[in-house]
Amino acid sequence: MSNGNDEGIRRYRIKRQLKQFRGWGTFFWPPCLFLFLFFLITKSQIITIAINEIQSIYYIRMRETLTMYSDRLKPLPPYLFSKLDDAKEAAIKKGVDVIDLGVGDPDQPTHPHIIESLLLAAKNPKNHKYPSYIGMPSFREAVSDWYKKVKKVDLDPAKEVIALIGSKEGIAHTPFAFLNRGDVALVPDPAYPVYFNSTILADGVPHIMPLTEENDFKPVFEDIDSNIAKKAKLLFINYPNNPTSATADKSFFREVVDFAKDNAIIVCHDNPYSEITYDGYKAHSFLSIEGARDVGIEYYSLSKTYNMTGWRVGAALGNPDVLAGIGKIKTNIDSGIFQAVQVAACEALNGPQDCVQDKNRMYKERRDAVLRGLNKMGWGARVPKATFYVWAHTPPGYDSISASGLLLEKAGVVATPGVGFGKHGEGFLRFALTESVERINEAFERMESLDFVSAKR
Ligand SMILES: Cc1ncc(COP(=O)(O)O)c(C=O)c1O
Repeated sequence: MSNGNDEGIRRYRIKRQLKQFRGWGTFFWPPCLFLFLFFLITKSQIITIAINEIQSIYYIRMRETLTMYSDRLKPLPPYLFSKLDDAKEAAIKKGVDVIDLGVGDPDQPTHPHIIESLLLAAKNPKNHKYPSYIGMPSFREAVSDWYKKVKKVDLDPAKEVIALIGSKEGIAHTPFAFLNRGDVALVPDPAYPVYFNSTILADGVPHIMPLTEENDFKPVFEDIDSNIAKKAKLLFINYPNNPTSATADKSFFREVVDFAKDNAIIVCHDNPYSEITYDGYKAHSFLSIEGARDVGIEYYSLSKTYNMTGWRVGAALGNPDVLAGIGKIKTNIDSGIFQAVQVAACEALNGPQDCVQDKNRMYKERRDAVLRGLNKMGWGARVPKATFYVWAHTPPGYDSISASGLLLEKAGVVATPGVGFGKHGEGFLRFALTESVERINEAFERMESLDFVSAKR
């Protein structure tokens, strides 16, 4: 019996404990549940924070990687022209009627017969394939025929002409074909920035040849240290010249040939403005000089002569070995020019040339309007015989950036600061003849009304 009694006591105790436990349970469960939920929420927050952290570290690293440009980009000077573009865009957004004498891009459209030729060629499926690397034979022949007719230079289209996607492309690729790390290229200053920048991109060292007014904006070869001259592999020149609009006669080109021969330097003559000339001046091809083909090449462009800047077509001509070097780079980087564009370029070169003369008459009127305006304001500028630029002195007390900034801010006129073409361009502004005479006159009326002295204060 005692066993039955013990069993009863045991059951009684269990029941009581269960009751107690339920009592405690009702008391403890809510905070436990709360703590559990809190833990879950905070844990998920911790997880989210952790994920965010990982992501942000990843993004920061990614962002760093995306802007971790190669060392060869670091020495490139800031591209001043894009700043100028931004300032111009900002002025336009503010509602300013901007007169743009800054850009070296013809305001007139490509001539209609060239466009017609493109339209026809674009419809021909034969032209839809990869083009030849060095250019269609018909294009190279058209360039060589044009050179014979216009520049009195005989070129073998098979070996002495290659097509370029605009002359800029050929200029930019040339240093890659000839410069090893640390090799020197002789580069004018002020100048089209691609000579300097492509030398840097190819790990070369640009050696500046100052172009000064006293030297008629020509390099003085005697001033180049003979050790540097001996080390130099490339020499860039450009006449008719951008930005100074200086021209070169045959005697200067002869000097270039002699200097190049003495020092075993490849001459790269950039000639995109050869057909924009005034007052009876005719620009010589560097290749027309005896011995020039032994030392170098010339870049030719259809961009300015035929209002075809957007079409991207030009050529390099002259020494076959130099062209072969550039060609080797090109076969590894680009795949030629759309054939329909080359067909249209043939039409430009072989077709009627009166459009070129008409354009020169138009640019001459604009040039004279700019010169009149500058003279009235007392700003010195030489009368350009070629190119569509006027290279004018900045007003007294102004450097080229402040003068150009003032013109845009107070007169809504864009002129390119000379320093954008190199430090020796300081003290000058470049006015491009790419607005009508009426707009040029208006630009100078606005500029005349500016008080440069008080604006300075
Ligand atoms: C001196 C000079 N060289 C070359 C070029 C490039 O011309 P292209 O359109 O043939 O690339 C320009 C364009 O402004 C230029 O001014």
